[in-house]
Amino acid sequence: MSGPLVLGIETSCDETGVALVRDGVLVGEALASSAEEHVRFGGVIPEIASRAHLEAFVPTLHRALDAAGASLADVDAIAVTAGPGLAGALLVGVAAAKALALALDVPLWGVNHLVAHVAADTLAHGPLPSGAVALLVSGGHTSLLAVDDLPTGVRLLGETLDDAAGEAFDKVARLLGLPYPGGPQVSAAAVSGDRSAVRLPRGLTAPKDRATHGADFSFSGVKSAVSRLVAAVRDPSGRVPAAALADIAAGFEEAVVDVLTAKAVEACRAVGADTLVIAGGVAANRRLRELAAERCASAGLAVRIPPPRLCTDNGAMVAALGSLVAVRGIEASPSGFGADPALSVTVPVLRAR
Ligand code: KG4
Ligand code: ZN
Repeated sequence: MSGPLVLGIETSCDETGVALVRDGVLVGEALASSAEEHVRFGGVIPEIASRAHLEAFVPTLHRALDAAGASLADVDAIAVTAGPGLAGALLVGVAAAKALALALDVPLWGVNHLVAHVAADTLAHGPLPSGAVALLVSGGHTSLLAVDDLPTGVRLLGETLDDAAGEAFDKVARLLGLPYPGGPQVSAAAVSGDRSAVRLPRGLTAPKDRATHGADFSFSGVKSAVSRLVAAVRDPSGRVPAAALADIAAGFEEAVVDVLTAKAVEACRAVGADTLVIAGGVAANRRLRELAAERCASAGLAVRIPPPRLCTDNGAMVAALGSLVAVRGIEASPSGFGADPALSVTVPVLRAR
């Protein structure tokens, strides 16, 4: 017998994502993005994102249902991102999900965006073995997690003390004069650069930091170092010459992925995990994927990274987590739940106390 058809809804930032998953298999999805409306501001403007979700939600829902060859009457349960994210943006998804759940008389779970990033990998590679470590690298978060059990056993091993990895990419892009969102832009610029032309700081990797901050990150140092380099090479019109830009982008990308992969492998050793999952928008980065594969192979670890389109925000990851929650028979979230912009990664699904 087949399991429940779970509708997933994601509106935590600038992507409106809707998808349907049954038994861990993605059966249809649709995505709308307001990213282009934020470009001229150099970052996501919450009011614009919320308005765009409002306009995009119903058409995106219908596109996802069409892609799945399903109708609303086929939906057995709903999962919606309850946090973390932008309050107004989250509220649009939560309100839409509540209305649908009420109208269809199906259970609704408010779920965690960060855990959903990890769950996205199950769509590509099947159930996660117990006792894995997840490196979560997004625009707002950079954490190492012990995933004893997906969906309910997630422990925080360490996190960034300042900027998230994606945020560092976005800020460095801005310093280099590249548009938002900066990650893919910096990565593309790095291709023609020399990774070892400039050596940039690796935060919290000194022996004195390893005991206390072994699983924590800091990217503010590398960002400041890039800022100084950029100031030194700018031409009189304020532009960074192409060759210098490529070398700085490559050196920066290398510094970030070096620290991320080294600490992730160490975390696996520390907790005795034999599988590393890498999730979140920055997991789409080509050099991160390459270096993680290399280092995990030499450490005897299995590495799982979703395909790039499942790394950045989407509805499929939320439906994937919803599907795992549904199969466990976890009761619906209390009907009064709201959006929680600061929801902790240790709360995969909102439950009654
Ligand atoms: O997970 P995500 O889509 O949204 C959040 O939950 O934050 O992550 C977005 C972040 C942005 O900072 C973006 O610049 C970064 O992921 N990103 C990348 C790449 N693609 C997206 N960073 C580096 N390389 C990439 N290819
Ligand atoms: Zn995300």
